[in-house]
Amino acid sequence: MDEPIKIIHFSDTHFTKRPQFIKGSYSKSVRTINSIPHDFAVFSGDLTQDGLGEEYRLANELRKQIITPKIYWIIGNHDSRSGGFEVWETMVGPREFHDFDEDNSILFIGLDSCIPDRDEGRFGREELDYTRKILKKYGEAKIKLVGFHHHLLPIPKTGRERSNAVDAGDMLSILLDHNVDAVFTGHKHHPNVYKVEDTIIISAGSVSSYKTRSGEPRSLNYVEIVPEKEINVKIIKTSGDTIASETKTITRRFRMVDSAGGVWIRIAQIAGTDLELLDNTQNQLFTKGMELVEATNPDLIIHCGNLTAKGKSTDYEGAIDSLSPLTDKLIFCPGPNDLKGYGDTLVNKYFDTEKNIEKNNSSFYILNTSEPDTEIGVVGRTTQNRLERYVHHTRQETSDKFHTIIMHHHLIPIPGTREISALEDAGDVLRLLTDTGINLVLSGHLGRAFCTRVEQTAFVNCNTISSQKTSSIENSFNLIDISTEKAIVVSEINVPSGFRRILGIFPGI
Ligand SMILES: [Fe+2]
Ligand SMILES: [Fe+2]
Repeated sequence: MDEPIKIIHFSDTHFTKRPQFIKGSYSKSVRTINSIPHDFAVFSGDLTQDGLGEEYRLANELRKQIITPKIYWIIGNHDSRSGGFEVWETMVGPREFHDFDEDNSILFIGLDSCIPDRDEGRFGREELDYTRKILKKYGEAKIKLVGFHHHLLPIPKTGRERSNAVDAGDMLSILLDHNVDAVFTGHKHHPNVYKVEDTIIISAGSVSSYKTRSGEPRSLNYVEIVPEKEINVKIIKTSGDTIASETKTITRRFRMVDSAGGVWIRIAQIAGTDLELLDNTQNQLFTKGMELVEATNPDLIIHCGNLTAKGKSTDYEGAIDSLSPLTDKLIFCPGPNDLKGYGDTLVNKYFDTEKNIEKNNSSFYILNTSEPDTEIGVVGRTTQNRLERYVHHTRQETSDKFHTIIMHHHLIPIPGTREISALEDAGDVLRLLTDTGINLVLSGHLGRAFCTRVEQTAFVNCNTISSQKTSSIENSFNLIDISTEKAIVVSEINVPSGFRRILGIFPGI
């Protein structure tokens, strides 16, 4: 077996002479780092509290205490405050860099995801192009690692989903396309590890900021990477005790899906019909789209929201009329447009949006994340508790079934869109659904088809089928085939041309 690469990953020191920096905790972290043999270290941002000159000077004193063969320093949003991003370049190093270790064939890319004086992040075209270019150039590297400050996926236990990178979806697709092995992030002060397809996304807690969740210890990560085999992440308290350890296996093998079994259930996933009585273009596209849906002969048609454009009673009546031949196959989860005006009341007249559906040994749970008059989604604590009881029950009682959650808002950032109307409590909901091994999560926000798998759960977002509010060139819907071995094949079907392309293939687990 190859010798593992050993990495210390720590973050968010928040150096300052003010009480926000907990010096005792930093000293303990330094002792821990210095006592663990490692090949290199990664610091993932927020070195200083406010990017001030005196804080950078303090940082340069305190950084010297760390004994390490090599360390990569990544800038955080706090370091970019007060013009600090310029100070970073003179006192710490470049904000964007890459390093290729020829002996071990390890590539490390460090990125600046920060907008000066703002807490939310943005990679922007330059960082996205740079990442793509370097990953292409060193495509043959045995281990490909990328670090930046902002979190890529929602983090649990950190309150409202905010201050994320607005173009996280674009970055995610680049990392997945180039088979990056691991991604190192900070920012939320809470340690977390996710496996997205074959890429491990590692977030570090804070080592010395006053800002941690009540009762939660400050921590750092110890990461061991065995090339093309596994990645082991240990979360270590600053006192040196291990809090948690997670091993993720990397499987870079393409496996054919279920050659013997065949399709178990076929789902046509649609969204954004946005029906409005007088809109002819939309109505024509809707008619064409639904003809294509019928032609695929699905077992179920799942509508992930925005059936109507404005939630008006005439639009609801027209929509119900058009969909009446397909009613027995239709499952509907409302989007924000459906709840506009009086729509919040009307939706319950036509649909039962709280029922659980069973079909072909599969269960479907509708999770309404939409609110009237806002694009931002929310599950809310009461519904979250209900969802928690449901998923725990389904996992224990019916583990042989295929479990699907249907919602409007997405949980995983979508490439080509901006994270400006995310689900508020995405961090906790994502953790719950992946921890309980839900098989499939369907969403229909932002008008762009995308799918990926986090841990064992596949996430599929669909474009609008007829609404002109789309982030794609043309309208489309998704066709999802689930095999008897729980493998999932996702295709996108273009409405004007009827052309079908494969979006993702996820082997059965
Ligand atoms: Fe921070
Ligand atoms: Fe931060």
